Amino acid sequence: MRDVVPHRPGMKSKVSVHLLKAHSPSDLRAAVRGIRGEVRFSEALRDFTSFHIGGPADVLVLPADVEDLCLLVRQARLLKVPLFVLGGTNLLVREGGIRGIVVNLSKLNGITDEPGHVVYAEGGVGMPTLMKHAISRSLSGLEWAAGIPGTVAGCVVMNAGTRLGEMKDALKEVRLVDQKGRIIDCPLSAIRFSYRRALLPRGIVVGAWLQLKPGAREKIEAVVKEYLRHRKETQPLALPSAGCVFKNPPGDAAGRLIEAVGLKGARIGDAQVSEKHANFIVNLGRANADDVIALIKQVGRTVEEQTGVTLELELKIVGQP
Ligand code: EPU
Repeated sequence: MRDVVPHRPGMKSKVSVHLLKAHSPSDLRAAVRGIRGEVRFSEALRDFTSFHIGGPADVLVLPADVEDLCLLVRQARLLKVPLFVLGGTNLLVREGGIRGIVVNLSKLNGITDEPGHVVYAEGGVGMPTLMKHAISRSLSGLEWAAGIPGTVAGCVVMNAGTRLGEMKDALKEVRLVDQKGRIIDCPLSAIRFSYRRALLPRGIVVGAWLQLKPGAREKIEAVVKEYLRHRKETQPLALPSAGCVFKNPPGDAAGRLIEAVGLKGARIGDAQVSEKHANFIVNLGRANADDVIALIKQVGRTVEEQTGVTLELELKIVGQP
């Protein structure tokens, strides 16, 4: 197990999990000593995920700023306490929760304008906030991300995208905190991007420079508005979910295949294959991670048996059973 685990969705296996070993309470307390941000022990992660599902973190830390995170990384490394960066969307946390320290970057929420239509956004900035900022400056280049609920860091590590574009198209450079707690600025040449995946040097993404271009504000707004309308019409945005569960197989759409095998509306406990978009699993209220995993397996098995296509997970499953 690495001691710094960036939020890196796009698992190869059908259902993969992170199992972290327990650490003594004194090690955990020592690892968070001097942290200026928020430190919460035995914190339920349910409220920090878009699925509204998930057991507790031994410790949840919301670093005050990048320097605070650097200190946390150094201390955790010294004590061999694992760190896990919680993206929150496109993620399923199992009921046993996550051992060690879980980091939430929501306090890293600064946006800075730089010359040449470049915007620097810290890792915890939500994509909708970044989008609003770009629109207010009449900057184009992020319209593809309309409706993506994730953070800048989450979108970098999974090369988030839609049919209109993907994160790599707008990126200029990425700032990381490496395993030794140092700030590293990483050029695009050091990152390998593919469909819903970015292979970065080990570390935690704490910010990104985005190369945008000047545009007409009304035009940008119109594209975003139309795209949001389409998403609202085709995706179950009113219910808790983790976005698309499976990657699209080459030349096809996971949602189409799942609907074709008759699984729209299939339900285990309060986890349901969305009736609106079959590549979403929604939480109807009290779904737990076991319900969702059982449903994922049922969908994967049925699609494979009936169509011969093996669906690969886009969603990342973490934590202990
Ligand atoms: N379809 C069905 N039944 C369904 C859902 C879709 O037949 O229940 C068909 C549609 O009719 C369409 C095709 O499948 O012909 C593709 O559907 P859609 O246009 O909704 O796009 P998608 O491929 O399912 C992708 C991204 C979404 C993104 C949308 C919109 C992936 C895995 N999904 O969905 O991203 O919002 O395009 O751009 O790449 C996510 O990553 O979490 C996500 C939701």
